[in-house]
Amino acid sequence: MQAQSDKDLGAPASISIQGEGGLEPIETASRDEISAVQLSRMKETLKRAYENSSFYRAHFDTHGAHPDDLKELADLARFPFTVKQDLRDNYPFSMFSVPREKLARIHASSGTTGKPTVVGYTLKDVDTWAQVVARSIYASGGRPGEMVHVAYGYGLFTGGLGAHYGAEKLGCTVVPVSGGMTERQVTLIDDFKPEIIMITPSYMLSVLDEFRRAGIDPRESSLKVGIFGAEPWTNSMRQEIEDSFNMDAVDIYGLSEVMGPGVANECVETKDGLHIWEDHFYPEIIDPDTGAVLPDGQKGELVFTSLTKEAFPIIRYRTRDLTCLLPGTARTMRRMEKVTGRSDDMMIVRGVNIFPTQIEEQLLKCAGLSPHYQIELTRAGRMDTMTIMVESMPDAADDAAREKSGSELAAHVKSTLGVTAKVDVRVPGGVERSAGKARRVVDLRKTD
Ligand code: DLL
Repeated sequence: MQAQSDKDLGAPASISIQGEGGLEPIETASRDEISAVQLSRMKETLKRAYENSSFYRAHFDTHGAHPDDLKELADLARFPFTVKQDLRDNYPFSMFSVPREKLARIHASSGTTGKPTVVGYTLKDVDTWAQVVARSIYASGGRPGEMVHVAYGYGLFTGGLGAHYGAEKLGCTVVPVSGGMTERQVTLIDDFKPEIIMITPSYMLSVLDEFRRAGIDPRESSLKVGIFGAEPWTNSMRQEIEDSFNMDAVDIYGLSEVMGPGVANECVETKDGLHIWEDHFYPEIIDPDTGAVLPDGQKGELVFTSLTKEAFPIIRYRTRDLTCLLPGTARTMRRMEKVTGRSDDMMIVRGVNIFPTQIEEQLLKCAGLSPHYQIELTRAGRMDTMTIMVESMPDAADDAAREKSGSELAAHVKSTLGVTAKVDVRVPGGVERSAGKARRVVDLRKTD
């Protein structure tokens, strides 16, 4: 293959995604070509951040790093990390690399404590973002002309508008429903007949319940592809959703600090982890304790550097998400393993490290239990207690069946994770629902 210029390879904002059967050239470029694009873009990004963001200038200076120090990709390790607290400290606009008037869009993540973290986009950034989401929908199996039902929340959260612009860019018909009003979600799917749905996996389960309540067979729905993200979900959950809807369920990943949805996406033909769109986002995996860069294949904390962003270039952002990097398969760009947890979601229960997704895997083995769950942690004296609140299936909701399912789950958790859990099996509808990201852990120990 002849070396292509950065312009051809990078699918700059002005080029829309190719049509049926076509991938952007960068998606099948050689590793050398991808690295060359990354290096030139990384140099530009470091320079832009240093010259235009007072935060980055001070941050680099303090750590004795200068954009000229970057000669090869590995030199990125000389630059300091950026963390969520940096965004909070620079609230709202002090980290940006363009004057406020140049921003076309602002998003923010709510955050459970304190001020939200604010991010911004130029018009070109909005277009780049649409391009990577269009690429993600295409990789998921979506095609121009199809209809996309967007049930991610619209607003400051990046999910709704991110999905929306990407679907339009691909040439799809968008139904911008946002989250909530579950009954109406089902009516619209039944009436409009979209092929694609973009929604959090936990909210999809509520939509599934509503299909059944309304007496509509979900396997007969028009949906053929679901693009699920914004929260961790397991392969067991994938199976559950695929079987229930007779559809393909693929994983989309992203975070507002780096862009929003569309930083990485699975390919429907392989479903073997998420291809990172490496021409726009440079990944590293680090040891969360020492900050050392780890080789591909080793699990650690995911760190991103943006390569094309104008308004809010982000350098070595620590995501807190735990995963590892794997070689490309369906695309030449590297994959990341499904994110099964964030370091700050990890529960330490009597010394054992547990992620909510590990509980999810166990409860999906129990036929009498639905996948709606929440975990409560309490402490009496020095003793931690983990209570798994889960709903029974409608046909296993009587007292005896719920007791049996509860014992079954407790036994699975004990034998696989080594901890004793209390299981509170509730009747259908008894566990807190969300129309967006599910709140999986309620830690009441902190207030003791
Ligand atoms: O959740 C962006 C998004 C919207 C991604 C819609 C996918 C679909 P934030 O609100 O900033 O952005 O939250 C980012 O959510 O660091 C992960 O911990 C988690 N997350 C996002 N996607 C996935 C995924 C959006 N596919 C944080 N699997 C990230 C696991 C995910 N966790």
